[in-house]
Amino acid sequence: MSIIQIAEKQFHLRGKDFSYVFGADHFDYLSHKYYGSAISEDADLRYFYRSHVYNDYTAHIPGVRDRFSSIYPEYPVANYGEFRDYAICVEDSRGCRVTDLHYEGFEILAQKPAISSGIPTARGGETLVVSLFDATLSLRVKLYYTVYEEENIITRRAEIENCGKDPVKLLRALSVSLDFYDHDFNVLTLRGGHHEERHECLTPANYGKISVGNCRGNSSHQHSPFIALLRPNVTEETGDVYACSLMYSGSHYECAEVDQYGKTRMMAGIQPETFTWKLESGERFETPEAILCYSNEGLGKMSRSYHDFYRNYVINPNFVYRPRPVVLNSWEGMHFNFDNKRLLAAIDAVKGSEIDTFVLDDGWFGARNNDKAGLGDWFVNTEKLPGGLKEISDHCHEAGMNFGLWIEPEMINPDSDLYRAHPDWIISAPDRKPVLSRNQCILDLTRRDVLDYIKNAMHRVISESGATYIKWDCNRHMTENWSRLLPADRQGEVQHRYILGVYELATYLTESFPEILFEGCSGGGGRFDGAMLKFFPQYWTSDNTDANDRVEIQYGTGLCFPLSTHSSHVSASPNIRNGRSTSVRARTNIARQGVLGYEFDPLRVSEEELSTIAENIKKHRTTEKLILEGDLYRRENRLHGNVMSQTVVSKDKNHAMMVFYQALNPHNGDLIARAAGLDPEKHYRIEELDMTLRGSVLCNVGIFLERMPGDFDAVLFTLNAID
Ligand code: GLA
Repeated sequence: MSIIQIAEKQFHLRGKDFSYVFGADHFDYLSHKYYGSAISEDADLRYFYRSHVYNDYTAHIPGVRDRFSSIYPEYPVANYGEFRDYAICVEDSRGCRVTDLHYEGFEILAQKPAISSGIPTARGGETLVVSLFDATLSLRVKLYYTVYEEENIITRRAEIENCGKDPVKLLRALSVSLDFYDHDFNVLTLRGGHHEERHECLTPANYGKISVGNCRGNSSHQHSPFIALLRPNVTEETGDVYACSLMYSGSHYECAEVDQYGKTRMMAGIQPETFTWKLESGERFETPEAILCYSNEGLGKMSRSYHDFYRNYVINPNFVYRPRPVVLNSWEGMHFNFDNKRLLAAIDAVKGSEIDTFVLDDGWFGARNNDKAGLGDWFVNTEKLPGGLKEISDHCHEAGMNFGLWIEPEMINPDSDLYRAHPDWIISAPDRKPVLSRNQCILDLTRRDVLDYIKNAMHRVISESGATYIKWDCNRHMTENWSRLLPADRQGEVQHRYILGVYELATYLTESFPEILFEGCSGGGGRFDGAMLKFFPQYWTSDNTDANDRVEIQYGTGLCFPLSTHSSHVSASPNIRNGRSTSVRARTNIARQGVLGYEFDPLRVSEEELSTIAENIKKHRTTEKLILEGDLYRRENRLHGNVMSQTVVSKDKNHAMMVFYQALNPHNGDLIARAAGLDPEKHYRIEELDMTLRGSVLCNVGIFLERMPGDFDAVLFTLNAID
């Protein structure tokens, strides 16, 4: 049993190794009591009650001394007795922005109810729904807590219903708020940019607020929808971590605020700066879902908990543990410079190289000869491809390969027939020139007509293409946030309505083509978030394919998202972005830490290189199951030193893959690669060294490595238990 009612209005949520306790106090404010390592199920924490008021404003009023005693509210309100950041702010029809929520009741549901707005949520079981009510506003807030008995995860979301007669406006509706009694934490967030997605950013919590997020209408490269509080002693193996991964793909907000009393509040949800939502009488609003993880064994256990959770409860079960195609993507090798002859020759060239899917990236439709034109015109460019996509996909099949295709359904170039026919279909401000980014605008997916058009266009393209793999790209962010069809008092809804449109489109296409593997992409690895993983079992991790940079990008991505979601391609050296030369060994071994693929021009690759590729793909197939199903144990972290090493271990501890990466080659010193996560008692055969060592030796003593021949190199060892 994972949801326990300990006493009247008091709840204990019990997951694998943790407890989360909260309940209504005697003024019926819902208050947080405890979150951490598991405690006894019958512990009644009502005694754990602070009587001092949060501020002085009401302390002098007889009988009201305790009125604002809920200094650890589960869902803090705006403008009614405290000054910290809040989860909800509602404006009534008189312009008053006060909310006051009291406990109303609860129910326990055996199955998590479906969400009606279409926001992706995790699959899940037992759910506690606690209702809070504001009698003055006639507003009901339902807090959903889904508990996973065998996981270290709780999910939380809120649902807000206007039960009154007059409309109200939500000015803020976050998904989660968590209060802590102190501020002895470091705050971990994942910052980034194009070519440097999800880099660890660690800041000591201190008086004031650390907040991240964005207003870009896209979860973005800049800040991942993720935040964690780490006790100062946290390592890969030790210390308490409280993490939150928000399943949302639009503008988001995460913060950690330390107040005047040294208490910390961590929150996450839709970015309030770019959000308002009008609720007519009887209407409801659903927030995205936040995935909370508690680890009492450092960052390593946090990552493994998230990986298991995303694999088992979010990613499409039809694909999650299925071996993935090793694709050759045309982008880095050919960009827009192709026609059917070149593509057919390219396919012939890689025949027999173990590459099993040829992906035609950008440039196959409309007047798309560069990135200035054609987006929106989803018709094959018959000058380049006179035989259509069918000729290309048929040729792939004849060569024993599958065919994959790139699309960017949400976007439009002003230089396109679609734009000329429907200039009003874009998101832009009235009476102003539209802002262009990468020469393109965003289609207004808040509109039913636009959404239906693009659904049909994409359905037709995919049906006719013969593709088994689709790469869905999204190459710009939203600035003007205005839609022609919405009334003035609903313009604050544009960004959220847009992302609901994206979810509807993604649901429609993935359900229409259940056997097609969709890979997500957004100018590289922007919009790589938990909600997108519901549609895309794998995601293009970054446009930066340099092995050295990928070590850091894949580290940050792997903090939360399973390795089987990291689409990782070997590309040509020197790298087209930064000119860095790396060995094919380094590029392959780093790409093998995710879903291996390739980016090169087959017409410029020698026979010898192709046979190396074939050999490497065969090796990858021997360790792929670990990427799909295994547990990640990190050791050295490249962000803090010259080397990175990690071991991916099968659940039964019988198989593992260890990678050791070194950036600069030092003059002196021994290179020692130590494994992690192995069974200390088992003997493991190290296939590449023809040597057998016990798990305890591999993890503690390690393997002495040969001096590396140059900079930026990586070695990989396959370990198989023999007893
Ligand atoms: C984005 C993607 C690339 C490629 C190009 C095509 O930048 O991240 O992989 O698909 O678009 O325009």
